[in-house]
Amino acid sequence: MVHITSRWVSVLFSKDKSLNQDHAVLQMAFKEGQLPLLTPYKMRQFELSHRVVLAPLTRQRSYGNIPQPHAILYYSQRTTKGGFLISEATCVSETARGYLDTPGIWTKEQVEAWKPIPNGQAPISSTDKGLSNQVQSNDIDVAQFTPPRKLTTQEIPLVVDDFRVAARNAIEADRVALRLSPFANYMESGDSNPKALGLYMAESLNKYKILYCHMVEPRMKTAGEKFYSPHSLVPMRKAFKGTFISAGGYDMEDGNNAVAENRTDLVAYGRLFLANPDLPKRFELNAPLNKYNRETFYTPDPVLGYTDYPFLETTS
Ligand SMILES: Cc1cc2nc3c(=O)[nH]c(=O)nc-3n(C[C@H](O)[C@H](O)[C@H](O)COP(=O)(O)O)c2cc1C
Repeated sequence: MVHITSRWVSVLFSKDKSLNQDHAVLQMAFKEGQLPLLTPYKMRQFELSHRVVLAPLTRQRSYGNIPQPHAILYYSQRTTKGGFLISEATCVSETARGYLDTPGIWTKEQVEAWKPIPNGQAPISSTDKGLSNQVQSNDIDVAQFTPPRKLTTQEIPLVVDDFRVAARNAIEADRVALRLSPFANYMESGDSNPKALGLYMAESLNKYKILYCHMVEPRMKTAGEKFYSPHSLVPMRKAFKGTFISAGGYDMEDGNNAVAENRTDLVAYGRLFLANPDLPKRFELNAPLNKYNRETFYTPDPVLGYTDYPFLETTS
């Protein structure tokens, strides 16, 4: 049986007009004893049955940048009726590749063009300054990076075009949305004023009618670390008029509170969903969670640490 705390109830009966949509949904859910995370949500044409989203998770198992059959199993293990999954980061071009064996969003011609290129080109960047070796987000491996090639001003339209082509492919699927990590400091590229940047982006995105805006909490400074700084996305959530998804260090209680307090519409789970293919079910039953294994986050095995995390039926 699910327990709803008084904090959620206080939101259910809030007079705030901005809560109207959730107010009705949550009120109904409250009557039925549902967790806020497990209440339905309408994201434009998508009728979601719950708010537990799979966060984008690079798994580096798309050999040669081509999604493999094992990805079908991995993603289908994490589907639920009316659930919403975000795919792993997908490269828009060869020079956009940051990691080995990440998938691309390509045309047939691109796939064919890649085949004869065994070593590929250097990644491009705003600088040719190489990155120092870094501990990967599994906290174990030391990642080494190919030094980038500095982009020339004349080449900028080509990069814009890469994104245009990829966005067009995505528009065809009517799934254009944005994920922003204004507080992240990946690859030594932290912003000097992340709050202002995030707010500016959230406001600006209102013009574009995107499906959702997804932001990562500052507490998730780099994957693997957890720094608490709750409520930090609230100004961005308020500024953006469409569906808002938060991610970064949430557990079930954090997620329920964030939805109930209208700090987000949906919550994306990364590491917990990676290790628990049936995460929404486990939340529903308040069941124990499988522990994730960092060592296999980015290993190329098509099964180990990928599709072999047990479901509830097999753990109990
Ligand atoms: C193995 C792994 C791969 C990730 N890959 C991506 C990625 O491809 N794109 C991205 O934007 N974030 C990526 N992230 C960040 C997650 O989407 C998420 O924001 C992060 O794990 C924090 O959420 P969590 O605390 O629920 O795990 C990755 C995180 C992990 C652990």
